[in-house]
Amino acid sequence: MKTKHLAAISSVLAFSILGVRAQLPNLVVERFEGSNYGAWKVEGSAFGKAPARGTLPNQMTVDGFDGNGLVDSFNGGDAATGKLTSPPFKVERKYLQFLIGGGGWEGKTCMNLVVDGKIVRSTTGPNTQPGGSEHLQPAQWDVAEFLGKEAVLQIVDDATGGWGHINVDQIVQSDQRNSAPVTRFNVKHEIFVEKPYLNFPVKNGAAKRRITVSVNDNEVRDFDIELADGQPDWWAFLDAAPFHGQIVTVKVDQLPEGSTGLSSVDQTDEIKGSADVYHESLRPQFHFTSRRGWLNDPNGLVYFKGEYHLFYQHNPYGWNWGNMSWGHAVSQDLVHWKELPVALYPDQHGTMFSGSAVVDWKNTAGFQTGKDPALVAMFTAAGRPFTQDLAFSNDRGRTWTKYEQNPVLGHIVAENRDPKVVWFAPESKWVMSLYLDHNDYAIFDSKDLKAWRKLQDFKLEGDAECPNFFSIPLDGDTKNVRWVFFGANGVYVVGEFDGHQFTPETRPRRLQDGNCWYASQVYSDIPASDGRCILVPWGRLPDGEIFRGMTFNQMMGLPVELTLQSSAAGPVLHVEPVRELASLRAAEHDIKPQPVIAKTNPLAGIQGDLFEIKAEIAISSAQEITLDLRGVPLTYDVAAQKLSCLNCQARLAPNNGKISLHVFVDRASLDVYGGDGTLYLPMAKALSPENRGLKLTSQGGDARIVSLKVYDLNSSWQ
Ligand code: FRU
Repeated sequence: MKTKHLAAISSVLAFSILGVRAQLPNLVVERFEGSNYGAWKVEGSAFGKAPARGTLPNQMTVDGFDGNGLVDSFNGGDAATGKLTSPPFKVERKYLQFLIGGGGWEGKTCMNLVVDGKIVRSTTGPNTQPGGSEHLQPAQWDVAEFLGKEAVLQIVDDATGGWGHINVDQIVQSDQRNSAPVTRFNVKHEIFVEKPYLNFPVKNGAAKRRITVSVNDNEVRDFDIELADGQPDWWAFLDAAPFHGQIVTVKVDQLPEGSTGLSSVDQTDEIKGSADVYHESLRPQFHFTSRRGWLNDPNGLVYFKGEYHLFYQHNPYGWNWGNMSWGHAVSQDLVHWKELPVALYPDQHGTMFSGSAVVDWKNTAGFQTGKDPALVAMFTAAGRPFTQDLAFSNDRGRTWTKYEQNPVLGHIVAENRDPKVVWFAPESKWVMSLYLDHNDYAIFDSKDLKAWRKLQDFKLEGDAECPNFFSIPLDGDTKNVRWVFFGANGVYVVGEFDGHQFTPETRPRRLQDGNCWYASQVYSDIPASDGRCILVPWGRLPDGEIFRGMTFNQMMGLPVELTLQSSAAGPVLHVEPVRELASLRAAEHDIKPQPVIAKTNPLAGIQGDLFEIKAEIAISSAQEITLDLRGVPLTYDVAAQKLSCLNCQARLAPNNGKISLHVFVDRASLDVYGGDGTLYLPMAKALSPENRGLKLTSQGGDARIVSLKVYDLNSSWQ
């Protein structure tokens, strides 16, 4: 850094000697190399009596300065304040160049240029740098308009909190514009909001910058973004409807000079590229995805007034995980979803991690304002430390208010998180399961959703995060319920819960064997007339690359119905895709009962993109039966009684010499169910657009189709 900068100065000299451009040599204003501040006036204590020689006591490593000395107002830490004022000097070159670091507080940690008694230029430090270092960076002002005038520099430290100091070095007048990337800090762009969306240019993989959006000096949003300085990969949108008719100030912490990252932020009636949304080549056609950006865990699954709510962990501004907010979508049938505005944004307590939602029918929390009960969400605010917070909605989940006395449950240990709340009718109270750390969870109760009491600690070997703890009838008998506790990987135990103590009666089992299933949640408040236990998992993609090149990343798994059924090994959860998925069926191909042999393909002639397949196949003399789904084989090994797909395997015992399979083929996944609900194999794989066929063959002997239906499916986005 030091040598690079001096080289820049000498190359300017060389240029002018050679007469390539009629530029005057650089003039050093101040290099802060002396044993005192010379003619500079020193006020306050923050600047000490002399330039610093590098990092000061208790400071993070300061680098990027030139020579041995620099201005560093960390004397006495961030609390100290002060001011340095230069002697007057004449502006004799077109640019004033310097190095700057430290606090990014406008007017408070900055260097000012004063001409005719007025501050005409001001630059702050950047605040934190990537990696946390205190790295001084080059900055420059175009001062051509002041040529010949007298000027004064002020280096100001008027801030006392975090980053309450300023670093400056190597102030030079130059006619040569610094072509090295010069960073501008806290650059602003004002927009009078007349349209519902503000669009931000994103370049995947670019350095993260911090954007803050303010209305009337109040920060209303802030987030990290891989801002594109030029041509973006895609445009992220910010829902600007709440700021309609107001001036918003969009500020970015730093921007290379010449970047269009901020100036290109604009407003539109529709999100940019909306005509293509849901038609992209890899867009899942009946698995929920967000229009733009990243999603992970389903959150706040609750049914209310004809709507299934699906909230989800969401980064609206990036293709990767970050800026955790609660995205929101609703559906009347669990199949066709409508994305709504983000429901919960990060706040002073932290980003919005996973949690659940309930209908507070008895207004136990007192949040209800109208005649309908309030929806109440309980979630983790992932700040320092992680705590559990509440928010409520009195308008069917459309807008949410954070409870003003958050948090309702303080920090317990580590990154305690993911509260899942259920109603415990026998005692008219709420019960909540919470992830603590390692394989440790805890169960709590509350009368009002606000005051929580710990009932017990609970260890679930083999799993972590995102608990579900709920009651479910055994063999459909609502008078004979059991409680199920499961973690993010779907490891579960079944037992009895008396409202105070959960006693498992099975060993841990796995609910699924696929490669894209995590952090699922069961719905709250499914009406008794329906009575189903409906679960939605995050379809976590095994390698994060499947949707590379798309403007969205990750998907939800298909909603499934859970039932608990007795078996010789104790109660077992069974899984079936929800019946509503049948509404996607288009053409039906009914394949006649016939032998399955090695050479002929009874499915030849069927071509398509999206399929549902229901098959019952008698094994007969076959050793292996293969159902090839658009190029991805699903193979049943008769001797091993195992079904395998890609690198996953699941047990599938024949029933009376037959196996049954129920498969959904979407653009980036195969969801496989079977064995009357004991087989659950959700698989992610980007299917090749060239392979649109299906194949059924047997090896080592013949099998026989007992029944086989193939349905072409419609997209749920139509
Ligand atoms: C699970 C998880 C949760 C957490 C959330 C953050 O995928 O790590 O434990 O709340 O994701 O996005």
